[in-house]
Amino acid sequence: MTQNIKMTKIPEHVTIIMDGNGRWAKRRGLERLEGHKAGVESVREAAEFAAENGIKFLSLFAFSEENWNRPQSEINGLMELMIDAIISEKKTLIDNKIKFRVVGDKSRLTDTLNAKIDEIEKITSVNNHLTLIVFLSYSGKWDILQAARKYAHMIDDGTATLDVPLTNELMDSLLSTHGIPDPDLLIRTSGEQRISNYLLWQCAYTEFYFTDILWPDFRKNDFKRAIDTFSERERRYGKTGEQINKIK
Ligand code: IPE
Ligand code: IPE
Ligand code: MG
Repeated sequence: MTQNIKMTKIPEHVTIIMDGNGRWAKRRGLERLEGHKAGVESVREAAEFAAENGIKFLSLFAFSEENWNRPQSEINGLMELMIDAIISEKKTLIDNKIKFRVVGDKSRLTDTLNAKIDEIEKITSVNNHLTLIVFLSYSGKWDILQAARKYAHMIDDGTATLDVPLTNELMDSLLSTHGIPDPDLLIRTSGEQRISNYLLWQCAYTEFYFTDILWPDFRKNDFKRAIDTFSERERRYGKTGEQINKIK
């Protein structure tokens, strides 16, 4: 069902920490992997909602650097699920002009998964309706470190010099999220209220929204509630409320 909503403020970039799959499964006496499988439907709905409501960037935290410490059977199941999801959603992504991008330490992913990612990124690269970003094998500290290493190499090979200051803009361009605007809104499901080493630099001025709903239960109505809450927030960026209201 299409649910177009009237909103005063549509965030350009919404990012979601999709949490609670394991607990969802446990409550039903199922294996954790069943929770991850059920979460794929929530991804589909969230992408549809974003496309229907003019959200330009939707990004999803699917697997963290720390998640590599989970039991190998769960990791294998999750990786297989990613491959299956890319294959099964390929047509939908193309038909709906969605640009698909994966961000994270791809060197830790299997060749099979990387090949699928490369293929779908290439096919959808010309699309411009909605950009769907999946953070896979990602952590905020990893991202900052890889940016710092890149900068060190630039100093080393002379493409950067120490007398030219390192700016916010240069740092943005070195991060793995280059070209993606910082998130306006971060949603985390399952009741946890932490960042779990996600977008550390990029969430400097992001609005946070926490909900107790477990990811496999997250539906368009829940997304709408988060957007409505965001809409009521006043983003001040360090200024006073009076200054912000004068600009409006
Ligand atoms: C989120 O759900 C998915 C991943 C981290 C891969 P969890 O698997 O963390 O679910 P809970 O937190 O154990 O319920
Ligand atoms: C964060 O969830 C990572 C993803 C949703 C992919 P976790 O379930 O791994 O986070 P913690 O360990 O509870 O902080
Ligand atoms: Mg969790």
